Amino acid sequence: MNKKPIIIDTDPGIDDAVALAIALHDKTLDVRLITTVHGNVSLEKVTRNALKLLHFFNKDVPVAAGSDRPLLRDVIDASEVHGESGMDGYEFAAPGNILLKDEHAVNAMYKEIMESKEKITLVPIGPLTNIALLIRLYPEVVKEIKEIVLMGGSTSRGNASPAAEFNILADPEAAKIVFQSSVPIVMLGLNIGDKAKIYNEDSKKIKDLNQTGRMIHDLFQHYRGGTMETGLTMYDSTAIGYLSKPDMYQVAEAYVDVEVTGQLTMGATIVDLEHQFEQQSNAKVAVDLDDQAFKHWLINSLARCN
Ligand code: BDR
Ligand code: CA
Repeated sequence: MNKKPIIIDTDPGIDDAVALAIALHDKTLDVRLITTVHGNVSLEKVTRNALKLLHFFNKDVPVAAGSDRPLLRDVIDASEVHGESGMDGYEFAAPGNILLKDEHAVNAMYKEIMESKEKITLVPIGPLTNIALLIRLYPEVVKEIKEIVLMGGSTSRGNASPAAEFNILADPEAAKIVFQSSVPIVMLGLNIGDKAKIYNEDSKKIKDLNQTGRMIHDLFQHYRGGTMETGLTMYDSTAIGYLSKPDMYQVAEAYVDVEVTGQLTMGATIVDLEHQFEQQSNAKVAVDLDDQAFKHWLINSLARCN
């Protein structure tokens, strides 16, 4: 079977680390490039975290650092969820910079997309700044991208504000550009992430799997995306799960737009599931997840890591 070529745009991030672990060891996925973006912590830290993870997994995937801030707004971060380093809880070995490209993420993505024989799927699991810049700087990529499978937004309420999910609130204008780009989009929002939970007993199982499991278990002790009792939310892995096992999800076509002027609702994704705006759908939106199947998939996938 042909592996699906993907580029992961990320801000690791503890749940990003789990998503990267799974994607890098999934036999159906070919991770061609990892690009980094401001988000959970600063660009410098998330880039270093991506390199730390690749060194830990002994995987030679190139990394390109991208935008260190949103298009228009001030930077926000989520260090209260992921810790000061973005991946608090595990002492990673110093990674070196061999895999770090001397090129901006947007240019690295552009080359990878244009030079690939097969169309590439973009998997953004952080704020959408790099993807928006790619679309604006190189509009010819739009018809060359197979799909954007993103973790962000929500069909209901938010986590970074009552109305907005973090990845969208961190750069609402970028998200608006992406949703209006006409690239086929699959949206895995907070409504799905909130069903993708790992509990204490699962974390203990994960710890006993292998060295990746031990590392992730240690990170989980510091992760504040939920609690061990109410469940830790594996937001970013829902995007990888969709690529790997789409039958775990129920999706609906919808028109999605992003609030960029609201005073209280800034960064909210407006997901028109009932077609009230009478606009053409621009995304497939995940509306349900088989949570037990997801948990099995996640633990089995981590079991395949080293
Ligand atoms: C998203 O925000 C980040 O903190 C997580 O890594 C995830 O991408 C969830 O709202
Ligand atoms: Ca993330």
